[in-house]
Amino acid sequence: MAKKTKVATQSLIKRKIKNSESHINLVSLAADINHIFTQNKLSAADQTRVKKTIQLLDLGQIRVAEKNADQVWQTNEWIKKAILLYFRTQEMKVIHAGDLQFFDKIPTKKWAKDSKVRVVPHAIARYGSHIENGAVLMPSYINIGARVGEGTMIDTWTTVGSCAQVGAHCHISGGVGLGGVLEPLQATPVIVEDYAFLGSRVIVVEGVIVREGAVLGAGVTLTSSTKIIDVSESQPRELKGEIPKNSVVIPGSQFKKFPAGEYAVNCALIIGKRKESTDKKTSLNATLREFNISV
Ligand SMILES: CC(C)(COP(=O)(O)OP(=O)(O)OC[C@H]1O[C@@H](n2cnc3c(N)ncnc32)[C@H](O)[C@@H]1OP(=O)(O)O)[C@@H](O)C(=O)NCCC(=O)NCCS
Repeated sequence: MAKKTKVATQSLIKRKIKNSESHINLVSLAADINHIFTQNKLSAADQTRVKKTIQLLDLGQIRVAEKNADQVWQTNEWIKKAILLYFRTQEMKVIHAGDLQFFDKIPTKKWAKDSKVRVVPHAIARYGSHIENGAVLMPSYINIGARVGEGTMIDTWTTVGSCAQVGAHCHISGGVGLGGVLEPLQATPVIVEDYAFLGSRVIVVEGVIVREGAVLGAGVTLTSSTKIIDVSESQPRELKGEIPKNSVVIPGSQFKKFPAGEYAVNCALIIGKRKESTDKKTSLNATLREFNISV
C-alpha cells in the first residue's frame, strides 16, 4: 500500500468513518487511491481498496463533492480516481432485468421493500451513486458518483450524470440533463443545491453551480461558457458558471458579432428572485412524495 501522502485539506478525509465492519481511515484510503491511480497493474489488495471506496460512495458515507468549512464546494478528486479505477476492476457481464438483458461492468443499485426511496420502473441508478431517503426516482438514470438529496424528485427521462450533486427537496423536471464529469479528472461536478427547481428539459453541464432555491425555467441551458445576465436591475450584470440563490432564470439570447455577421447566441437571463407566483408554479406536491400512497 502507498505510504501516506499529504492530501488536500478536505473536511471529508479528516474524519474517520465508522461502518459496520471497521473504522476506516479516509486519509489513508485517499492516499492509497492516489497511489494506486499511478500504477499500471492493480494488485488484489489495490482492488479491495478501490471497491471499498465505491462501497462507501454507494452508502453515502463519502461524496465526490461537498461544502468545506467555508461553505465552498470542493471536489474530492481521489474519489473520482477511485471511480475510474473501479471500471478497471470490473469485468463486462450480462445483467438481467426480467426479460431484458444488458452487457456492462457496473451493477445497478438494488431496491428492497424497506428502501426509503421510491423507484418507479424503469428508473436506473448505478451502484456507486447515492440516493437519500425520501427521494423519488421516476424513470430516469443516475450515474456512478452522483448524489441525490433527501426528498428530491427526479422526474421522467432526467439524466443525473456521473458525480453530479443534487441537493435536498429539489424538483428536477422531466428530461433534464445534468452533465457528468469523470473526465477530465480536474473537472468539477455539476451542483444543484437544496430547494432548486429545474424546469423541463433544462441542461446544466461543466461544473455549473445552481445555488439554493434557484428556479431554472424550462429549456434553460447552462455550460461554463454560457453568459448568465442578471437583467433584474437597471444595469445588466454578467455572470458565468453560477446561478445565485433564489434567482429565477429563463432562456435568452443576445447578439454577438462574428466575422460572418451578427447572430443571436444562447444566454440565460436572471429576471428576478423567486416570488409567491413563482412558488405557485413550482411548488412541490407532497402527495407525490409520500410513500405507500399510490398516485
Ligand atoms: C420560470 C417560470 C417558473 C416562471 O417564473 P415566474 O417567476 O413565475 O415568472 P413570471 O411568469 O412572473 O414571468 C415574468 C416575465 O418573464 C417571462 N417569462 C417567464 N418565464 C419565461 C420563459 N420560460 N420563457 C420566456 N419568458 C418567460 C414572462 O412572460 C414574464 O414577462 P412579462 O413580465 O412581460 O409578462 C416558468 O416560466 C417556467 O419555466 N416553469 C417551468 C415549468 C416546468 O418546466 N414544469 C415542469 C413540470 S414537470
